[in-house]
Amino acid sequence: MSADVSTSKEKFQERYKAYKDVIESKLAEVCNKTEPVSLYEPMRYILDGGGKRIRPMLLVLSCEAAGGSGNDALDAAAAVEILHNFTLVHDDIMDNADTRRGRETIHKKWNRDTAILAGDGLLGFAYRLLLKTKSARIQDAAKAFTEAIIEVCEGQSWDKEFETRQSVSISEYIMMIDKKTSELLKCCAEIGALIGGGTDGEIEALKEYALNTGLAFQIQDDLLDIIADEKKFGKKIGGDLREGKKTYLLLRALETATDETDRVLLNSVIENKGVKNDGDIIRIKNVYEKYGVLEDASVKVEEYTYKANASLERINDSEAKEMLKWFSDMLLTRTT
Ligand code: IPE
Ligand code: IPE
Ligand code: MG
Ligand code: MG
Ligand code: MG
Repeated sequence: MSADVSTSKEKFQERYKAYKDVIESKLAEVCNKTEPVSLYEPMRYILDGGGKRIRPMLLVLSCEAAGGSGNDALDAAAAVEILHNFTLVHDDIMDNADTRRGRETIHKKWNRDTAILAGDGLLGFAYRLLLKTKSARIQDAAKAFTEAIIEVCEGQSWDKEFETRQSVSISEYIMMIDKKTSELLKCCAEIGALIGGGTDGEIEALKEYALNTGLAFQIQDDLLDIIADEKKFGKKIGGDLREGKKTYLLLRALETATDETDRVLLNSVIENKGVKNDGDIIRIKNVYEKYGVLEDASVKVEEYTYKANASLERINDSEAKEMLKWFSDMLLTRTT
């Protein structure tokens, strides 16, 4: 690696960390009320539970890549992170997940009603913060934000419907993850670029980057659900199999497995509406390994990341553009 490359890598790492700190302090400020305790305590709990903060980073970088100043985008950046946290709280109820970011989920630590309401509160907070943004294009930004929420709901709905479907194609899976994961990233790119005064062409290129980064990100999430270190990942390993999720891994294994016993095991996930014992999780992981499904997933993640970075060729050169490339590459090797 040349000296230049390693220096810019370090610089980008530092900038990511610096921006994360700014977002953390904004999130800490945003919820300063204490009563009613049963609303604000869980809201603060999820907001200060860590997280990679990739969505606010994407929003700020998109703003800069479109020629604006990242500082003008900070309220919107915190807003998309709050919106994301809202989706996580409700997602954990739907997915029966007990842990997130290495801690108990809200519905587990408190109860379901508390988690539903904390999610609703977060959605309100997200809008409140977004609307503080001073930009001539705030209306377009609010529209992108609103449309993204609807898309995520559709994606989550497909995700749940697919759990009980006998068969789901890979293209249906891509449609589902586009909605549940990429749409929020696309909205980050769009809002950032709008605040930064981007042209239609720049907005489209950045959205395409976000779309493909999102697809890579979700396939990687499916992969980590089976291969990650549980402590680092902060979520329970095998959760997708337990819930009978039609992940990229399961669909690809159903496509490629030839041995009858392997097929019976994979089909049992569908028939039993999820895996009921830990032994089967290991057995299915072995089947994934046997047919190269884990490598297939990694290749897909790389392909979508490559596509994401290629779409950046359509925008002017800038440091933010280089950092966006670094960012999607960095996500390739993530373990959390
Ligand atoms: C989790 O998102 C939900 C998915 C779309 C896979 P992240 O992996 O960005 O979660 P945090 O915010 O870093 O915890
Ligand atoms: C997350 O998908 C999508 C949204 C939160 C909208 P997952 O259900 O795979 O996310 P994790 O694995 O629980 O974070
Ligand atoms: Mg889910
Ligand atoms: Mg989930
Ligand atoms: Mg997941």
